[in-house]
Amino acid sequence: MSKFKVIAIDGPSSSGKGTIAKLVAQKLKFNYLDSGSIYRALAWLVIRHKVATTDIENILTLISQMNLSFRNDGVFINDENISMYIREEKIGMMASLLGKNEKIRQHLLEFQRSFAYHNNLVTDGRDMGSIVFPQANLKIFLTATAAKRAERRFQQLQLLDKSVKIEPILRDIIARDKQDSERKIAPLGYDKTYKLLDNTNLSIEQCVDYIINLYLL
Ligand code: DC
Repeated sequence: MSKFKVIAIDGPSSSGKGTIAKLVAQKLKFNYLDSGSIYRALAWLVIRHKVATTDIENILTLISQMNLSFRNDGVFINDENISMYIREEKIGMMASLLGKNEKIRQHLLEFQRSFAYHNNLVTDGRDMGSIVFPQANLKIFLTATAAKRAERRFQQLQLLDKSVKIEPILRDIIARDKQDSERKIAPLGYDKTYKLLDNTNLSIEQCVDYIINLYLL
């Protein structure tokens, strides 16, 4: 068990976890880990190397050679900044698919834990409080209705592409929620060790304040 503090924020896609977790980390001067970006980086590698998603042995080899780092807010594999490629929904869905496999999750466990070896940490994902840091000092399950999450994502994407439609976004969100919460290993969900925070009608600032106040209690 690490002597450093951990705040784990889990929840479904587009619940605002990343934005909120990053702000909490900044305010508390903790490090920040977006665990989803690890699964996304792996998905990107699997696609780039044209490895079949059923070829678990080769995927485990990719993990052992992955050389993933986070620098100045960017996600790097070796020296390549892959941040702009891994946000696509195609990668999110592939990350979710890979995340169903127990061996893959097992192989990513220690890497994730290493972020709390030398620093206090705020981290977000699906199982950060349940599996990766079960002894976390504070666990939040952050959620909002699928409709609200789709609307937020739609507004973000519309800034880049005016022709984007909300219906496929909502469909993707529902599909990914289903895949993440119905898997056998480390499913998306929460138990009584978590505080539930439904932010359907809350601002980012309200969520950040709520989490920090809970932590400082
Ligand atoms: O948080 P995100 O949308 O960037 O995560 C992408 C996918 O990665 C998510 O749908 C499931 C998987 N994931 C996971 O299985 N466990 C985590 N701790 C984080 C992400």
